[in-house]
Amino acid sequence: MKKLLAVLMALTLVFAFAACTKQPADTDDAQKTLIMGTNAAFPPYEFVADDGSFAGIDVEIAQAVAEKLGMKLEIKDMEFNSLISAVQGGSIDIALAGMTVTDERKESVNFSDTYAKGVQVVIVKADSAIATVDDLDGKTVGVQAGTTGDIYCTEDYGQDNVKQFNNGALAIQALLNDQVDCVVIDNEPAKAFVAANEGLKILDTSYADEDYAAAIAKENTELLDSFNKALAELKADGTIDKIVEKYINAD
Ligand code: ARG
Repeated sequence: MKKLLAVLMALTLVFAFAACTKQPADTDDAQKTLIMGTNAAFPPYEFVADDGSFAGIDVEIAQAVAEKLGMKLEIKDMEFNSLISAVQGGSIDIALAGMTVTDERKESVNFSDTYAKGVQVVIVKADSAIATVDDLDGKTVGVQAGTTGDIYCTEDYGQDNVKQFNNGALAIQALLNDQVDCVVIDNEPAKAFVAANEGLKILDTSYADEDYAAAIAKENTELLDSFNKALAELKADGTIDKIVEKYINAD
């Protein structure tokens, strides 16, 4: 009889404990997390700073939006090419990666309002015979895999003339080693790469004009709306301009 009582008491304790721990995690003080995916090899939009932290325009915009939404920002660094499927699969809430709005991507994700303009430009070695975009025919073009530079160049010059790299820095390395004749990439990262490596220049003629926006899962319209609302406020109060000026010197 004593034994049975002990077992009953033990069971009661187990149930009481289970009831305590089964509280929903979402209590008032538990801050929600906004998970941002990016490819942090794209200065000044996203890069890994000297101290190992993530920095850049997209990182600070996401931080400012998260703050407005009362959320904690978490950043996942991944290949650019994986971002859209990560958004679709839900392993990230939002992709902020200097990502260009395109009709094709719009079939897979929703885009926020745009927050910056991009231009695809051509980087060549300082002594290159390539003078304008019209000279690219038959040349080997280095690109970041899955980017608009990749997509447009493959369309225009054929797959055999386009070499894909996992990020811009690797494409630039290939240009310095004469493995490609030029690199097509977004203008601000292009400026950063040219400033960091001797013997490179950007052609005056540009390749394509684009708009950057955040990618969010089609079904997550709640986040799309709150992101756009926060972004509009940050545009209106000058925060976005201030972030951009911090990383891009007006020239
Ligand atoms: N704007 C280009 C695109 O959307 C390139 C973006 C690359 N971004 C990055 N974080 N590596 O395709």
